[in-house]
Amino acid sequence: MSEKNILSSNPWRSDGSLRHLLTLEGLSRPLLETLLERSAHYSAPLSVPAARSNALIGKTVALMFAEPSTRTRVSFELAARRLGADVINIEVQLSSRLKGESVLDTVATLESMHVDAFVLRDSDASIPEMVAKHVAPSVSVISGGAGSLSHPTQGLLDALTVRQHRGRIEGLTIAIVGDVKHSRVARSAAQIFTALGAGEVRLVAPVGLMPDEAEFAGCSRFTNLDRGISDCDVVMMLRIQKERMTAAAIPDEARYFQEWGLTRERLQRAKPGALVMHPQPMNRGVEIASDVADGPQSVIRDQVRNGVAVRMAVLETLLAGR
Ligand code: CP
Repeated sequence: MSEKNILSSNPWRSDGSLRHLLTLEGLSRPLLETLLERSAHYSAPLSVPAARSNALIGKTVALMFAEPSTRTRVSFELAARRLGADVINIEVQLSSRLKGESVLDTVATLESMHVDAFVLRDSDASIPEMVAKHVAPSVSVISGGAGSLSHPTQGLLDALTVRQHRGRIEGLTIAIVGDVKHSRVARSAAQIFTALGAGEVRLVAPVGLMPDEAEFAGCSRFTNLDRGISDCDVVMMLRIQKERMTAAAIPDEARYFQEWGLTRERLQRAKPGALVMHPQPMNRGVEIASDVADGPQSVIRDQVRNGVAVRMAVLETLLAGR
């Protein structure tokens, strides 16, 4: 099944409120703005205590991650706890899934324990969607990363980070660089930056890592790094998603860095003070030089900090008062 055609379930409740968050595609600009405003409310600098609320007291959130994660899983857990919810973590590789239990039987089991929301990550992009179609009407499903299809909360935190540093998305030139073809981060980022009025969203990738023409409507394409980041306001670097490639297709890392690694010299082609972003995990010395990742233009640590705020806003929006 083509990944881009699999999202067909209805994310809305009958009263027009958002029940599931599986993709940013199709969400209106006003709704995205509302989610970002609520995220900004929860986004606190590290110098002050983390924001908290009682909005989800009595709710239970289950995290089911079947692919590795550090940032998304931990920040969803912190977000749910800081809103007062109970949280359970299903280590899929240690669960009864390994004894042959289906995803839906695992979900039904947890529903019987009064779970109100599932956060799912899976290499099979159809899983969050399938679960959303089968859970009880009172239960919400959130994608924590679906194959190479979507990573909606990552897109939100990327947009929030740009807005905090630039005050707007509108009119900005944003380059998404590297393995765009296999990247759910790139898809969700392109969707939200386009929806929020970016002047130009550029896909900058080697020919073999550029997605099909049918995807990423409205984005411009560059197969040369220097030209692709020229005069950009934001440069978002991506790692090579080796886990979605055959061994033969994985580029040589040293050669990749020579041609596609973001160095201080190359960054000078972007606008002065251009933001450097990376969703992480990053491979230093492959897609990005360490002194750029840790340099004055990097907002990578802010992206991580904003991840908790965005996930608080999303959980609250979907679950509070239900
Ligand atoms: N950016 C991101 O999704 O990171 P993790 O894989 O660590 O969750």
